[in-house]
Amino acid sequence: MQDLIEKLKAETAAFDIVDAQTLDAYRLKYLVRKGEIAELFEQMKSAPKEQKPLLGKLLNELKQLAEAKFEDAKARVESTRTEETVIDLTLPGRRGFLGAEHPVQKVLGDMKRIFLGMGFQIATGPEIEKDEYNFTMLNFPPDHPARDMQDTFFLSKDVVLRTHTSPVQIRVMLSQAPPVRVICPGKVYRNEDVSARSLCVFHQLEGLYVDTGVTFADLKGTLYSFAKQMFGSDVKIRFRPSFFPFTEPSAEMDITCYLCGGKGCRVCKHTGWLEILGSGMVHPNVLRNCNIDPERYSGFAWGMGIERTTLLRYGITDIRYLLENDVRMLNQFE
Ligand code: DAH
Repeated sequence: MQDLIEKLKAETAAFDIVDAQTLDAYRLKYLVRKGEIAELFEQMKSAPKEQKPLLGKLLNELKQLAEAKFEDAKARVESTRTEETVIDLTLPGRRGFLGAEHPVQKVLGDMKRIFLGMGFQIATGPEIEKDEYNFTMLNFPPDHPARDMQDTFFLSKDVVLRTHTSPVQIRVMLSQAPPVRVICPGKVYRNEDVSARSLCVFHQLEGLYVDTGVTFADLKGTLYSFAKQMFGSDVKIRFRPSFFPFTEPSAEMDITCYLCGGKGCRVCKHTGWLEILGSGMVHPNVLRNCNIDPERYSGFAWGMGIERTTLLRYGITDIRYLLENDVRMLNQFE
């Protein structure tokens, strides 16, 4: 009997209590009314009378030790359990996920800031536009190829999804007498296949300046200043003769490639130059269509693609990346 008590003493001492489960297992094995210690008390009843005082003493010792171990372990387990649930105020806070400006909006924002700084105001117009404003009043001849079904989304015979922001020029000049100094940012639509270089919906920024005595020198000065602020003070510009029905003369403006500084690289296709906008002096017919006397007033206008400029600025090789909303791409513009 004494051996049994010693054995159980060693066993309870060695029992490994690490969590709430092992604590409970220990209690059920040794301490409950039908547990192993209670069992020994039961056996003691049938021991010889003269041994009982000693056995009783030993058993009581065992019981006290086992219970003390239980209380100890219980306190330990409970204190670690509360640590898990208590809020640790020294931990760093949870970071919110902040969105980032889309690269197209970033470029558009820079363009707006530059022209607002020069005294231009922002004008907007509808994306669903009259054929008359999108083409006719901008001096497109009735049979001009741009009206063709291949370029234009017609909603009806007379209504189109605007193919450029130039009709906003018409709306502004119809509603406001010169001097006019506006930029018109917005979405435009072309009935074109989507490819690495073109989308069927994209953004343009249009500009219009009409006043007395406005010359081509004003056009050059304004767009040169824009180019330097947008692409860096080292940039050089050049104009190439071009054609638009609503301007005469018309010119396309190139800037020196800011990736290679004009030496030639992949982005500028080894020419050293990047085409960034179309421009020209407002055609007298357009002024006349808007009840502005071309003998008294003159003006210049320009239009540029925002996605195109974004591709050039960041050296992005496929315009479709701008629409995929892949965070691995967008994260680079935070
Ligand atoms: N509307 C032209 C286009 O979509 C761009 C443009 C060229 C606008 C010359 C103008 C301009 O105002 O003067 O390609």
